[in-house]
Amino acid sequence: MKDAAGGVPLLDLEPATSDFLEQAIAGLSSSPRTLPSKFFYDERGSDLFQRISELPEYYVTRTETEILRQHGPEIAESIGDNAELVGFGTGAGMKTRMLLNHLRNLIAYVPVDISKQRLTESAEALSREMPSLEILPVCADYLQPIELPTPSRKPDHVAVYFPGSTIGNLKPEVAQHFLKRVCRLCGKSGGLIIGVDLQKPTEILEAAYNDSAGVTAEFNLNMLARANRELDADFDLSTWRHRAIFNQEASRIEMHVISETEQTVHLDGKEFHFVPGERIITEVSYKHTVEGFTTLASAAGFQLARVWTDPQKFFAVFHFTTL
Ligand code: AVI
Repeated sequence: MKDAAGGVPLLDLEPATSDFLEQAIAGLSSSPRTLPSKFFYDERGSDLFQRISELPEYYVTRTETEILRQHGPEIAESIGDNAELVGFGTGAGMKTRMLLNHLRNLIAYVPVDISKQRLTESAEALSREMPSLEILPVCADYLQPIELPTPSRKPDHVAVYFPGSTIGNLKPEVAQHFLKRVCRLCGKSGGLIIGVDLQKPTEILEAAYNDSAGVTAEFNLNMLARANRELDADFDLSTWRHRAIFNQEASRIEMHVISETEQTVHLDGKEFHFVPGERIITEVSYKHTVEGFTTLASAAGFQLARVWTDPQKFFAVFHFTTL
């Protein structure tokens, strides 16, 4: 189905509310209990995430942006001329611009994002700035197989851009499955530019996900508020608190919402009973090493072309290619 997004044609494949309901019930019925992190990003969740990315403790966005500011021209050169750029979850588009500005004879830009608001706003703004660029936004869950629109001019190759370390929100086996699909999408002589958060001391990681202003807590609890708003659940938000911990063994941050009381939550005619201190995992955020991530991507069919990091080695931007 096509919709107009202020003059930019939008391909609207937004997941239905029934997906959220189905996945929320499955997650709350599992052990440990979970809720799917992709449902963080409604309008309020997207605004809160934007605020997170500006927090002093959340080094992720700042560090990746700095790598792109410093190495944007080299990254663009490594991608090559006459590319079609597909952006997965490229959000407000700041980092993408740092690439777009340096790519020579870009054939088209296809941003794919689950947040319709974030997608349409950034596509419209970009189209005002770069009126001659063909922009084909797609609102979809890019973790699922999707058919992308075809640009009017034929590119020499496809480059996928996946910033923000969103790959870290996938368990390694799911990440590998996803990367295999991206590899097929890239086709022959294609490439993947991907931002990946790296391992670092626990104190830095836990501070980044338990910020002192409480924005991450609001972001996390908004998942329950969204379930109340959209699924008619009855989470009493005053009885839940946010906590993020670093699971050293799995090398991942785990975002939890913790029940402070004994309580029963109702959802779609079902009852979910919680004891005090019981947790729901709302997100995992894996912290990789350069070597470990290279092995993961290689197993999906990619080969490493280049990698750029910051001086502290907090974050890495990889360029992988296909044969
Ligand atoms: C989108 N993603 C990479 C963020 C992360 O760091 O895992 C989401 C986030 N969750 C809490 N803070 C930020």
